[in-house]
Amino acid sequence: MELFDVYSLFDVTPVRAKGCRIWDDKGQEYLDLYGGHAVISVGHSHPRYVEALKDQLDLIGFYSNSVKNPLQEQLAHELGEASGYPDYSLFLDNSGAESNENALKLASFHTGKDRIIAFHRSFHGRTSGAVAVTDNPKIVSPFNANHKVTFCDLNDAEGVERELAKGDVAGVIIEGIQGCGGIHVPSDAFMRELEALCHRYGALLLLDEVQSGYGRTGRFFAHQWAGVRPDVITMGKGIANGFPCGGILIAPHILASKGMLGTTFGGNYLAMAAALAVLAIIRDEDLVGNALRVGEYLKANIPSSTLIREVRGRGLMLGMEFTCPIADIRRKLLFEKHIFTGVAGSDMIRLLAPLCLSQAEAGQFITALKEVL
Ligand SMILES: Cc1ncc(COP(=O)(O)O)c(C=O)c1O
Repeated sequence: MELFDVYSLFDVTPVRAKGCRIWDDKGQEYLDLYGGHAVISVGHSHPRYVEALKDQLDLIGFYSNSVKNPLQEQLAHELGEASGYPDYSLFLDNSGAESNENALKLASFHTGKDRIIAFHRSFHGRTSGAVAVTDNPKIVSPFNANHKVTFCDLNDAEGVERELAKGDVAGVIIEGIQGCGGIHVPSDAFMRELEALCHRYGALLLLDEVQSGYGRTGRFFAHQWAGVRPDVITMGKGIANGFPCGGILIAPHILASKGMLGTTFGGNYLAMAAALAVLAIIRDEDLVGNALRVGEYLKANIPSSTLIREVRGRGLMLGMEFTCPIADIRRKLLFEKHIFTGVAGSDMIRLLAPLCLSQAEAGQFITALKEVL
């Protein structure tokens, strides 16, 4: 049997990793400024993370959500404290798309309405509802296209209000910072207007923090730069540093009922051990502060060049928009300088380094970039 051929692959085979470094099967070392799509938060193979998973596996690996699992309660408590949402509740699932799916469903259950407002250039995942609110027709099948979704422009509060005023909107879903769409940061003023509009028209504000959350932007969640409090916050990626895990934080006014949401694997012991280790490391090593400091250093030192039109983002969620296609620059960074980077579209290099990136490692990238340009 062959693999279903949907991924464009670089000819690199990682076999080992530590911190922000990866080694391939030929012993070549790479610097990781992409964290495997923003997933590696506390660094590869952190000893506390590895130990937590090994220890948990020796105890119990899995049972269903029909018995008590105190690790889930511990995570809810510690995540509430770390994120500034101690009064919210936590539902655990397995991925970013599933988290968004649950958020959309909750908005519809809660309001009894069925239309969603999303934004141009959004990406929310590939499952049915999540891909329907994603602004990329190429990945939306006819089956997914039947949801009621309206796309508005980012930062256009009047456009959003026109749609909300029609009275049939369950929720507004927005990324803390648009990632796959090209690192577009919604203005703080727009986020506040969005919050007020959702309150005024009785729709839920759904904040997709799958990529921009968990400390990446120098705040626990990117929307905290604007000081808003969404009704539902969705998480994935960095929450368990590569162990599949997702979850949503739910405001206290949204009430649970038995059977309303569910999942087989969500909140399993191994995912909880991984997620608890991640939170402890983020706290003890001040990785949110590090993301802010090293991200600012990186942003300030990206060389000025006629090839770079703009650098956008916050903390360690940065995009460099080029005036030319970036495929060749990215290839040189990988195969000549041995640095992993990401993309958004054909003209943006996206940097989503592990939150433990050091200033020296950021400096290594800056030197390499100057040489490549
Ligand atoms: C903002 C955002 N939401 C949701 C997702 C989907 O997450 P997953 O691939 O874990 O389903 C992604 C993945 O890139 C994302 O960037």
